[in-house]
Amino acid sequence: MNHYLGLDISTTATKALLMDEQGAVVSVASATYDYQAPRQLWSEQDPAVWWDATVASIRQVLAAAAIPAAAVRAIGLSGQMHGLVLLDAAGGVLRPAILWNDQRTERQCAELTRRVGADRLLALTGNTPVTGLTAPKLLWVQEHEPEIYARIAHVLLPKDYVRYRLTGEFASDVADGSGTLLMDLERRRWSAEICQAIDAPLEWLPQLYEGPEVSGLLAADAAAAVGLRAGTPVVAGGGDQAATAVGCGVIDAGTLALSLGTSGVIFAPTNTPVIEANGRLHAFCHAVPERWHVMGVMLSAAGSLRWFRDTFAPGSDYAALLAPAALVPAGGEGLIFLPYLSGERTPYPDPQARGAFIGLTVRHTLAHLTRAVLEGVAFGLRDILELITASGAPPASGSPAAPIRISGGGARSPLWRQIIADVLQAELAEVTTTEGAAFGAALLAAVGSGTFGSVAEAVAATVQVTGTTAPGADVQRYAGAHAAYQELYPALKDLFPHIAATPPDSQVG
Ligand code: XUL
Repeated sequence: MNHYLGLDISTTATKALLMDEQGAVVSVASATYDYQAPRQLWSEQDPAVWWDATVASIRQVLAAAAIPAAAVRAIGLSGQMHGLVLLDAAGGVLRPAILWNDQRTERQCAELTRRVGADRLLALTGNTPVTGLTAPKLLWVQEHEPEIYARIAHVLLPKDYVRYRLTGEFASDVADGSGTLLMDLERRRWSAEICQAIDAPLEWLPQLYEGPEVSGLLAADAAAAVGLRAGTPVVAGGGDQAATAVGCGVIDAGTLALSLGTSGVIFAPTNTPVIEANGRLHAFCHAVPERWHVMGVMLSAAGSLRWFRDTFAPGSDYAALLAPAALVPAGGEGLIFLPYLSGERTPYPDPQARGAFIGLTVRHTLAHLTRAVLEGVAFGLRDILELITASGAPPASGSPAAPIRISGGGARSPLWRQIIADVLQAELAEVTTTEGAAFGAALLAAVGSGTFGSVAEAVAATVQVTGTTAPGADVQRYAGAHAAYQELYPALKDLFPHIAATPPDSQVG
């Protein structure tokens, strides 16, 4: 039987997933790695770790599935978005990749706005510059590492570095490409205007493809390294959020995807570019041809829970940590957690924002703190949903909304799902696979190799709803707690820069 390989080059691991032509996940393997924070606000990774993890995870997934290499008909790529990978003319890596959660570029965001003009930038790219996106990172390297900038020959996104190692091609897809702030959103191509404004030659940028298009063929040396057939087509794929939406079947206007990974995302497909008036949401291309999407991203969602567990209950498994929190009443007896542990993007594009527990009393226990973390993340997601509803992206208010399709590690917790359904006042749906981005990438590979005629056909054949969570008795109580939560950031925002003690060595602008 034909099989399709989906790869997700994430911030913490590379995952390889094998799907058969009926959409069944045959096996999944992953190889983990760390990222480095050499200075406060910085987040970097050596691209070599992605390649090593790609080789290891593909070899593992093939061994587990026990299928011949020739049965793999195509490979699809997805991965962490917005990272800056710089290569020289020989294809050598010039410096560690600067990742999506790096916050060093506040000044360069202002500079980009000054050069292009805020209104023009928003109209052209669909986005306001926020620290995580790629273009301000290029400006940072230009300013701080001119000797490296002078040697740049290729600018790639993280998964596209792996594509380069697999195929020798410099290529990307429009969904990930639109997260660079270097693309003309409506025309789905690189913007010569923006490139000129930041002195980045267009030739540095990879060839752009639609999500299901073939971007290259597996080269002989890479085929030998990963154990697949040389010449296997490598399909463009999408950034992890667009690929996750595909994997959840969220491709049409009127449907919503919620991803509860390190970051927390709500994603709404649109038939035309929809740009939120103040640029508080991202507007990007979808991995589906002729579709776009709006999305809000909170930077620390399941990442908040991981930090909390590692700090206050090291070694504990999540089930053991969460069980006592289920017994705490909704609202945590007056305890509120602000999840801005890495600064924030949506709804507050503020690298200086900080996390907080507010309302602590001697009555509060570890269980209350745990519950407050789950609830604080849900409140942040509600802020995003309110912005999406107000932006005019479907589902327009008044139309009956389909359940929100939920994925990501955090979605495995029934308690967290119930809290989110209550806080969002919306039904959540789980789908066939929780493998999100890697599954979406495998579906795009199956479309690209002709097994399905379109992404819609692939999704209809393979993605089913497997369970739902309806809002329950705590909806009203959460409405009050969310109103209090919403007052906290405005009240604290001017204090954060004073509290955020930045060590002298990181004050490099
Ligand atoms: C999306 C974003 C994150 C990363 C995580 O805009 O920055 O979701 O893609 O991998």
